[in-house]
Amino acid sequence: MSDLTSSPAWKALEAHYGTMKNVHMKELFANDSERFHKYSMKFEDILLDYSKNRVADSTMDLLYALAEQQDVKGKAQAMFSGEKINSTEDRTVLHIALRNQSNKPIYVDGEDVMPAVNETLERIKAFTNQVRDGTWKGHTGKVITAIVNIGIGGSDLGPVMACEALKPYAADHLKMHFCSNVDGTHIAEILKLCDPETTLFLIASKTFTTQETMTNANTAKTWLVGNFDGDETSVAKHFAALSTNGDAVSAFGIDVTNMFGFWNWVGGRYSLWSAIGTPIALAIGFDNWMEMHAGAHAVDQHFLQYDGKDNLPLTLALIGLWYNNFFGAETVAILPYDQYMHRFAAYFQQGDMESNGKYVDMNGKRMQTQTGPIIFGEPGTNGQHAFYQLIHQGTKIIPCDFVAPCQSQNNLPEKLGAPVDHHPILLSNYFAQTEALAFGKDESQVKAELDKTDMSEAEKTALVPHKVFEGNRPSNSFLFKKLTPRTLGSLIAIYEMKIFCQGAIWNINSFDQWGVELGKQLAKAILPELDGDSPVSSHDSSTNGLINYYKTNK
Ligand code: F6P
Repeated sequence: MSDLTSSPAWKALEAHYGTMKNVHMKELFANDSERFHKYSMKFEDILLDYSKNRVADSTMDLLYALAEQQDVKGKAQAMFSGEKINSTEDRTVLHIALRNQSNKPIYVDGEDVMPAVNETLERIKAFTNQVRDGTWKGHTGKVITAIVNIGIGGSDLGPVMACEALKPYAADHLKMHFCSNVDGTHIAEILKLCDPETTLFLIASKTFTTQETMTNANTAKTWLVGNFDGDETSVAKHFAALSTNGDAVSAFGIDVTNMFGFWNWVGGRYSLWSAIGTPIALAIGFDNWMEMHAGAHAVDQHFLQYDGKDNLPLTLALIGLWYNNFFGAETVAILPYDQYMHRFAAYFQQGDMESNGKYVDMNGKRMQTQTGPIIFGEPGTNGQHAFYQLIHQGTKIIPCDFVAPCQSQNNLPEKLGAPVDHHPILLSNYFAQTEALAFGKDESQVKAELDKTDMSEAEKTALVPHKVFEGNRPSNSFLFKKLTPRTLGSLIAIYEMKIFCQGAIWNINSFDQWGVELGKQLAKAILPELDGDSPVSSHDSSTNGLINYYKTNK
């Protein structure tokens, strides 16, 4: 047994679960008119309402006690002060330094990292300003009008998500493209849209060895140089690198003056605050990117300063853990009611699942309880017409985070002369969904509705169970004024710290990702076997069978 599941705080929660598992939220709300006030909090203009959860005061007290027992605060301080909390890679974890706008020194091996962080930010500022204002010219003297970011995982998802989320702040004259998949279709389709004279490629890779990224980067380079009659000097004006690996960048043929570096203490999935965020600065401007940093830094300060119920990310983490570890929920749905945030759930799929998808604890011992949840989600209202049925009436419990801005970036009556404002329609759905999930519709309500129809009694009786919503399905609601760069930065940091807290409680390493390695190794071994026609026999019968089917049909 791991220490966690036999610990006093865990045992107390287990016992408490017995008393809470059948309590309906209807009861909780009926018995406490102050429930919303008690179970909601604000961070700047971001309101978090967590009252529609299956928690009572005693639940929250026990959850906060668990966090204390697991020394979440001490572990947070260790991270912020540059201790090597990523033990399996012997690394510090300091994405927080990249947005440390207080500029207070943060030491790694006795050296303050802030001067190097600030110097790189200054270089990114100069570079992105030049590209945006047209000072940076392509090989033939033309202004850059298209950016192609080539990267995958953390070197793609964050920049894509932020560029999409903050589109209303983006420069119209720069078209952003993101190429991640090694499937040649991805780059082929992007290159169709690009003019070599006006395209700038950003090769975004922490390691600069990732197969997908290097394959796409080489294809892009060949395409560009080919378009300039084999003139390799064209690379200097059309390629920049975002990486920690200067040698590999030079070997690829990118001058290191066009390289924006970062450090091994920036995890890939936390790297949009580093040079990996350069495409964001190109799209929305460096100052807006810094606003994202400011929003995240403010959350960091909040996270360090407040305890227990006043700490927003911790509260979010504990509620998630309550369902994951005690109710047996396996998933979390992140549901932004903002089309611009359509990649937000995908971003935190990596953020959460790569961080907390671990079955051994820090000491290498097998976990005796569940760790990271499966994250999924789509923007509302699209998701409502796709998978919400299962959330409302399925057999699984799916805790949901609903996320929405009070103000739309697109007032259509003003912009397009549309007959109605879409935003109240969108938000009526946002409000309705959490209400429906929590309170449902009982048999008597269903019967009353059916009584108004001309159905026979038999037909009504048959239909009732299908139309009942039992409710008691949990959700958190985030509601903020408007999706600004600062707000987005804060929301990202809130989720990052939530993930941190859960990892700290489970005592797992949230900052390594060994689980992605085996597939990479095997693919490397298989690639040469795909050459030629001769059948392979070096694998299990299934893998041999699949490879050989491919070889006879390629
Ligand atoms: O395969 C997983 C991973 O290592 C991620 O953690 C990372 O974000 C991604 O690959 C890309 O890595 P790199 O930036 O080194 O190309």
